[in-house]
Amino acid sequence: MKNSEINIKIKRICCIGAGYVGGPTMAVIAKNCPNIRVDVVDINLDKIKNWNSDNYELLPVFEPGLVDIIKNCRGKNLFFSNDIKGIIQKADMIFISVNTPTKTKGFGKGKASDLKWVESSARQVAKYSKDHTIVVEKSTLPVRTAEVIKSILESENNSINGKSKKFDVLSNPEFLSEGTAIRDLENPDRVLIGGDNDYAVQALSSIYQEWVPIDKILHTNVWSSELAKLTSNAFLAQRISSINSISAICEATGADIREVSRAIGSDKRIGSKFLDSGPGFGGSCFKKDILNLVYLAEYFGLPEVADFWEGVVRLNKWHQNRISQLITRKLFGTLADKKIAILGFAFKANTNDTRESAAIQICKDLIEEGAILSIHDPKVKKAQIIKDLHNENKILLNTKWEKFDEIETTFKDADAVVILTEWEEYSNIDWEEMSIMMRKPAWIFDTRSIVDIKKINTKNLNFWQIGNGTLS
Ligand code: UDX
Ligand code: ADP
Repeated sequence: MKNSEINIKIKRICCIGAGYVGGPTMAVIAKNCPNIRVDVVDINLDKIKNWNSDNYELLPVFEPGLVDIIKNCRGKNLFFSNDIKGIIQKADMIFISVNTPTKTKGFGKGKASDLKWVESSARQVAKYSKDHTIVVEKSTLPVRTAEVIKSILESENNSINGKSKKFDVLSNPEFLSEGTAIRDLENPDRVLIGGDNDYAVQALSSIYQEWVPIDKILHTNVWSSELAKLTSNAFLAQRISSINSISAICEATGADIREVSRAIGSDKRIGSKFLDSGPGFGGSCFKKDILNLVYLAEYFGLPEVADFWEGVVRLNKWHQNRISQLITRKLFGTLADKKIAILGFAFKANTNDTRESAAIQICKDLIEEGAILSIHDPKVKKAQIIKDLHNENKILLNTKWEKFDEIETTFKDADAVVILTEWEEYSNIDWEEMSIMMRKPAWIFDTRSIVDIKKINTKNLNFWQIGNGTLS
């Protein structure tokens, strides 16, 4: 059934937050619903300026397929603006898509999500919205946040022309994966809508029905929807920690993690996806969502449950340190003044996002050991790396690395190359030719299994690959 047939007229959508979730999600809604006007607002002036730029290199989010949608929809039914008040005033439906990082201080520090941006968005909605507004929580949020949003919306002294404002709050978690966000949004495995007001649920559902088959749109209560999002990410992250733990056993025993993954993935009950051992999971969601789950379990007096899930994050950190340590060991136990080329800084390929990237911890560890890094990434900007490698000794750290635009220049006089992101262009490197530029004995550390060992002359190059026990 289409939007028009069920007589629910959402004409204007506002999305608060023009980030990795808000930007691509609203672009896909605008593309598929040409009769709805979609406005994406943000407090960040530069971000909005860049979303409106005709130089598409400046778009704040890099996602394959995004530029085409921006070219076709921006200025027609998709708009980016800082006029938060004006846009909220006219919206029928408001998505909250702001950042929710883990708290760094106070109660719940290190585990609970910091909801200050969600809270301030809710207050803006309460203040400026019109008489009846559907509010959709899109950010990754702890369970029961919808309740918090609702109580903020209803607690403000809220009336318009003498009539109380009415709000319906829905949970509609995002399952897009960066790098394939547009594909995931265009063709989702499922769309989850949590809420108990039929009108609001139908209104949101009817938007997705413009391009998503109805059997893929699942309705649940709000709490199930919020918990399902955390649980999905926790299960996915758990698979990565599981396979990474086995990679260490492979290296010790002579097994090969790629063969083990293929063998276990052939079991339909396990499935073959998400079994690639790497440098440890990154991204803005996995760690944060698991820690939210841990916090929830602790809060409800379930320490065993909390400990079980916290183990997934512990293993991830251990695995990243394990990689830095083994690089140091292989380079004779010291990295003092050794030059190490880092290929890839994003947390995975096809994104410019570095949040929680394994590269951050690994680079910091290597610098700490005395190495000088030459970093390459096709999409991550130098300014971002400066932020990520910032610590109390900021000045010292920034003299310890350089960012290069050409892959070749990173190899010059390097003692080792460490591949941390699986960018396509790294699979096509001519290792023989590159090794000529390196200082001997030279090492390649491949944490992403993208180097074909048959193409390496191991007389000139020492080679280590994640979970490859046949090399040890
Ligand atoms: C994830 C979820 O997949 C998505 O559904 C949710 O909405 C947001 O969080 P994302 O963080 O974009 O998406 O990336 P994802 O593809 O899940 O990868 C997360 C991390 O795991 C990356 O660092 C990636 O390199 C790593 N990974 C993934 C592996 O190491 N091996 C794999 O087999 C898969
Ligand atoms: P995500 O990956 O969840 O999209 P991002 O950090 O990429 O997270 O984007 C969140 C965006 O939300 C940021 O651009 C930030 O400036 C914006 N934001 C945060 N709080 C508000 C607010 N109260 N009003 C408008 N925009 C906000």
